Parts: sequence; structure tokens; C-alpha cells
Amino acid sequence: MPFKTEDIRKAITSLNTFREYAVSPYHERFSFPFLCGTYFAYRKIDVLRIVSIAKAISSNPRYLDVGCGYGDFLEKVREYLPNAVGVEKNAEIFYACSQPKPQFIEISDAQWNIDQGYDVIFVGWMEPGVDYRDRVAAKSDVIITTLDQGLSLNAEFDGHGFQRVASWRTPSWDDVNTEIMNRYYTKISNRIHQDLFKLRTAHNLWYVYCRPSKYNAIRSALLNCARQEILNLPYQHYDFEDVLDECGFKFHEELAIPNSEMQSKARLWEIIFTDSSEL
Ligand SMILES: C[S@@+](CC[C@H](N)C(=O)[O-])C[C@H]1O[C@@H](n2cnc3c(N)ncnc32)[C@H](O)[C@@H]1O
Repeated sequence: MPFKTEDIRKAITSLNTFREYAVSPYHERFSFPFLCGTYFAYRKIDVLRIVSIAKAISSNPRYLDVGCGYGDFLEKVREYLPNAVGVEKNAEIFYACSQPKPQFIEISDAQWNIDQGYDVIFVGWMEPGVDYRDRVAAKSDVIITTLDQGLSLNAEFDGHGFQRVASWRTPSWDDVNTEIMNRYYTKISNRIHQDLFKLRTAHNLWYVYCRPSKYNAIRSALLNCARQEILNLPYQHYDFEDVLDECGFKFHEELAIPNSEMQSKARLWEIIFTDSSEL
């Protein structure tokens, strides 16, 4: 990171080779996350949670995705919030793919330039060593981050006048990719596969932060989501989520992963509220 045109072209060549052998059209979004998906493996419920948070702030919320890449997640959010926009600093990613840049993505460096205030800012992945929390904190009262444990740091806003409302855990692309490769593209015995399967992990953490004045509204919106998800789950999913189910990353699946703090007891996608009273 950042990716150069040369790197992206090589990745496209590998992707084309992979497509010749792929046993599912949905594997590429996990094996080639930058080109075809995202670095955090999301479900529709993640999108609906983000949308509910934004709608708890305004009926027509201003939403910004910082470091949105090609905008895979942003496009999903825009199905519900059509005015949502993204900022991406690397214009080369569009040229390298000969892909037109959508109007809703602005090429700009969030470290120096976030043009206006937003109701919600989403920071999907912050590169190691990069820290633009001050800039983001100055432009919104609600910030949602995903933090890949051990990789992308500086995604915590507790020290910037924000309170963490809730968090949840999802797999990152490489958690899923490892299992896809072991399961579908590697010749190994069932026994070895089962042993490896038990080692699967999920180290992508979603944090929802807000200024104290927005706390109750955001918390109620997320509580409502948690209730709705239990009732409506079979109807609320994207086709590619079948891969997550097959690979052992089901909604509320419990993994044997050593973790810290409250998340040690969490199941995948389970919302952990910072203040667990009245739940
Ligand atoms: C790992 S990629 C993640 C892309 C997308 N959010 C995803 O999850 O697939 C990080 C992206 O953030 C962009 N980025 C890094 N620093 C940035 C900055 N200061 N302003 C805007 N974009 C930035 C990079 O160019 C890259 O496309």
C-alpha cells in the first residue's frame, strides 16, 4: 500500500487466471478483496446497521466513506442512502483497471481534505502508520470504523471526545480466503482440513463511536437492529453470504479464538454494547 498501477495490473492478471478455475463466482471477492470486494467481510446486516445509525441522526443523512477504494461497500450503502459519497486518495486504482471513477467517489487525501461536515463518517480500513483521526473527528459526531486486529491501527476514537457505543466482530478477507483455499483449491486430506478448519479466526472489529449527545439515539438504533436481525435474518442477505456460511463464518457462530476484553465472549456479528444495561 498504496497500490501502484503495475501491482494492480499484476493482480488483474492473477484474477483472470483464478476465474478460469474458480468453483464459485463469489470466491473472488474474498480472494481478491481490493479488486472485487472489501477487506472486511460484511453481510447485509452490517449495511443495515450502518444505515440505521445514519437514519437515527437524520432522515436524509450525509454519509462519507473514507478510503473507499472502488466503493464496493459504499455502493451497498447507497442503495439505502443514495447521497452517500466516498473519498479515495489513489486515482491510479481506476486508471489501472480502465474503470471509470464513479461521481460519488472523490479523489482526495482525507488526511488533508474532508470538504464538509457529515452525519456519519465510515473509516473502513486505515493503513498502518496512517492517522487522520483528528481530521475525521472534526467533521462528524458519529464515526464507524473497522479495525483489523494487528494490522490497521489508529481506528479508535475514545481519546477524541467520542464514546464507543458498541462493537461487533466479523471475519476479514484473509480469514475467509484461507478457508476457501483449504476447502476448494488445495489437495489435503479431510482430517487435515478439519484440523485447519478449527484454527479459523475472525479478527475484524467494527466500532461505533459518537459524541455524547448522539449516544442514546445510536444505541437505540442498534438495539432495534439486533432485535430485527433475529426475526428477519433469512430474508436479509446477499448471495455471496453463502460462502461465509459454508466456510464456517455463520451469523452468531462462535469461534475458538483467543481474544481480549468483552469480545472474548462474542459470537460473530453479535453486537456488544459498551453499556449493557436495559438490554
Ligand atoms: C485497504 S484499502 C481498503 C479499501 C476499501 N475500504 C475496502 O475495504 O476494500 C485502503 C484504501 O484507503 C485509501 N486511503 C489510504 N489513505 C487515504 C487517505 N489519506 N485518504 C483517502 N484514502 C486513503 C487507499 O488508497 C486504499 O484504497
